[in-house]
Amino acid sequence: MKTTTRMLALLGALAIPGLAMIAPGSALASDGDAAAGKTVFQRQCATCHIDAAEGPRRLGPTLFGLIGRKTGAVEGFRYTEANRSAGFTWTPEKLDEYLRNPRAMIPGTNMAFAGIRSDKDRADVVSYINGIK
Ligand code: HEC
Repeated sequence: MKTTTRMLALLGALAIPGLAMIAPGSALASDGDAAAGKTVFQRQCATCHIDAAEGPRRLGPTLFGLIGRKTGAVEGFRYTEANRSAGFTWTPEKLDEYLRNPRAMIPGTNMAFAGIRSDKDRADVVSYINGIK
């Protein structure tokens, strides 16, 4: 009996960090590996985007809290009209589509980034960004 309780407690402790990595409500984001996505972010996005709520201003808006907010909504960041009025709310699926080909999804954006061709890298970085909020 005592052993069972200890085992359950141990399982619980193991399960919690695992659960925290799985983004709620998205098959896609949970397919990605957020830790690998952080590396993708650092290599491909961090020259222009920070991943914290506050920090030095770069060429692009912070991606902290991106999932769940409207396009072009970072206070004080001067977006193009195209990005500001794209008019949808960022979800993991929308972000995946955007990162395939940003200019196809938001024609007129001035984000100088061609997109990520690797499905795995995209799923990973989407998973990472989904977790920063
Ligand atoms: C060369 C700089 C640059 C790189 C590299 C870059 N971005 Fe951007 N990004 C921008 C700029 C500038 C904007 C604002 C675009 C506009 O206003 O038209 C932007 C906008 C965005 C937006 C829209 C944000 C919003 O609030 O609507 C997302 C999402 C985004 N970038 C994600 C990424 C991700 C993820 C990566 C890496 C895989 C990346 N970007 C790489 C410069 C960059």
